[in-house]
Amino acid sequence: MVLATYNIKGGVGKTSAAVNLAYLAARGGAATLLWDLDPQGASTYLLRVKPKVKGGGQRLVRGKTDAGTRIKGTDYERLDLLPADFSYRHMDLHLDATKRPARRLARVLAPLAPEYDYVFLDCPPSISLVSESVFEAADALLIPLLPATLSARTLDQIEQVAGDGTSRLAFFSMVDSRKRMHRDVMESFATERPEMLHTVVPLAADVERMGKARAPLEEFAPRGGAAVAFRELWKEIDERLGPR
Ligand SMILES: Nc1ncnc2c1ncn2[C@@H]1O[C@H](COP(=O)(O)OP(=O)(O)O)[C@@H](O)[C@H]1O
Ligand SMILES: [Mg+2]
Repeated sequence: MVLATYNIKGGVGKTSAAVNLAYLAARGGAATLLWDLDPQGASTYLLRVKPKVKGGGQRLVRGKTDAGTRIKGTDYERLDLLPADFSYRHMDLHLDATKRPARRLARVLAPLAPEYDYVFLDCPPSISLVSESVFEAADALLIPLLPATLSARTLDQIEQVAGDGTSRLAFFSMVDSRKRMHRDVMESFATERPEMLHTVVPLAADVERMGKARAPLEEFAPRGGAAVAFRELWKEIDERLGPR
């Protein structure tokens, strides 16, 4: 099962979700791989791995390097990482030079599939060949949305580009329930988008602290509201994905 944290926008909580959800999947007993596709390498950093793919990310993406040999273990049992590489900033060009760019990431992942119950793709914010290739590879997109007026538009756009082949699980991220606007947006979504996940990730200093701790929430603030929310979110996602 391939799950991609995706949004056209940056700074909405994709990486925070990828790291915490992948951690929870692994802790729940599933063999889990997180592939950091963002050249900025935030999830690689949070999992304390060096942001570099030996031989270059370009060769990996083009199928010239066996992905299995580039996987790193993390400090956590059953959680592996395919690290970011700075060359991913040109991944569009690298994909464009291949025969079927949209199939590329799925092809790289195919040989790994038997080894992992879950593969998480932490995506860079964009609409590009990279995203097309992500949509092909992913069974579901996990879409963090800020509760702002333009979010409905963002979700519409994602639905247009992602097409029907990939299921979409959107959830609100960085929610400040004291803010009138946040409450209003979430209320209108509840009627217009009943398929939204019900779990909400609150705006919480614990999530920002992940950068200092370089660890998932469960490792340093398991009783905080943010950790509770991610546990609830993973449970809801798992239920939505259904039996496999
Ligand atoms: N729920 C949250 N509460 C507070 N800060 C958050 C939350 N989610 C993310 N952040 C912070 O916002 C910034 C962007 O988050 P990140 O998960 O890296 O988003 P993206 O991957 O979409 O760019 C980071 O500094 C992160 O610590
Ligand atoms: Mg990110």
